[in-house]
Amino acid sequence: MLILSVESTCDETAVAVTENGRRVLTDQIFSQADLHAVYGGVVPEIASRSHVEVISRLADRAVEAAGIRKSELGAVAVSYAPGLIGAVLVGVNFAKCAAMGLGVPLVPVHHIRGHIAANYLAFPELEPPFLCLAISGGNTMLVDVRDYTDMRVLGRTRDDAAGECFDKSARVLGLPYPGGAPIDALAKTGRDDAYVLPRPVAGDNPYDMSFSGLKTAVINLAHHAEQTGQALDRAGLAASLCRAVSDILVTRTMAAAAELGYERLAVAGGVAANSRIRADFRAAAAASGLALYIPPLKLCGDNAAMIGAQGYYEYLAGHTAGSDLNAYATMEL
Ligand code: KG4
Repeated sequence: MLILSVESTCDETAVAVTENGRRVLTDQIFSQADLHAVYGGVVPEIASRSHVEVISRLADRAVEAAGIRKSELGAVAVSYAPGLIGAVLVGVNFAKCAAMGLGVPLVPVHHIRGHIAANYLAFPELEPPFLCLAISGGNTMLVDVRDYTDMRVLGRTRDDAAGECFDKSARVLGLPYPGGAPIDALAKTGRDDAYVLPRPVAGDNPYDMSFSGLKTAVINLAHHAEQTGQALDRAGLAASLCRAVSDILVTRTMAAAAELGYERLAVAGGVAANSRIRADFRAAAAASGLALYIPPLKLCGDNAAMIGAQGYYEYLAGHTAGSDLNAYATMEL
């Protein structure tokens, strides 16, 4: 089945065509990062307006690039939560109209379920059950993927997402938005023991995480250096930050894998592009004999193909919606 899928929850407008949840025919992405860079973060109103401007043309381009006729599409899938509400609404309304016009089912997809499903596109052999760490700009959670549409959150961040910690730390290091990739690059030239940074413990659940204390520690170090005129080892701070974030993620995830007896571990979301995190997970998985799945970089960040992948399994499970489908800023997995 060919699915047209739509993603607009934050600052990427994307439309893809995928087949049977496993094959990408095309994945068209328009990134708004340049529009928001001057503000140091996403401006919701600008994001919504930009989605409106490009979404129709992007969909036409997707159908053309896929080399199909619109009549061959079997469903329209859309990322309907969580996200910036105005931004999500644009994608949801577009998808409703597309599904109605094509006369095909409309399939709502949770954005984080989509990130997890990016692994199905990268690894055709991967099937549930598996453990998945989903790490993005707005969410960080450890998920028990029992089946394609049956998931349980084992732990999550109690405050900031890992990506938020990177993005806000990047600001004080004088790096552009979004800051994760520039921190990753800068970290490669620094020593990861240059600064001692906290690894906060969050409450009673051993799989919960916390990143706001770490973020504040980086910001305070940078401000203190500025106020006292001391030189800041920017590369060392970036490397120490990547190490600390990776430690927090890897220890929680490996503990869950061992205690709950998983054999397969997947990592997903924009922060999964981080080279330190990828390397640390590779080493930890090899040491404990776990099969590890981390998508290639282009499938880590927001894209529409992942929504098509999960949309296929939601469709098979009968999870379709009518034209009264709403968009949601927050939603449980
Ligand atoms: O998944 P994503 O594209 O969007 C959301 O669904 O949030 O994730 C974006 C996040 C941003 O915080 C960005 O700074 C971070 O992913 N990111 C990275 C890297 N590349 C992107 N963080 C650390 N290292 C990277 N190489």
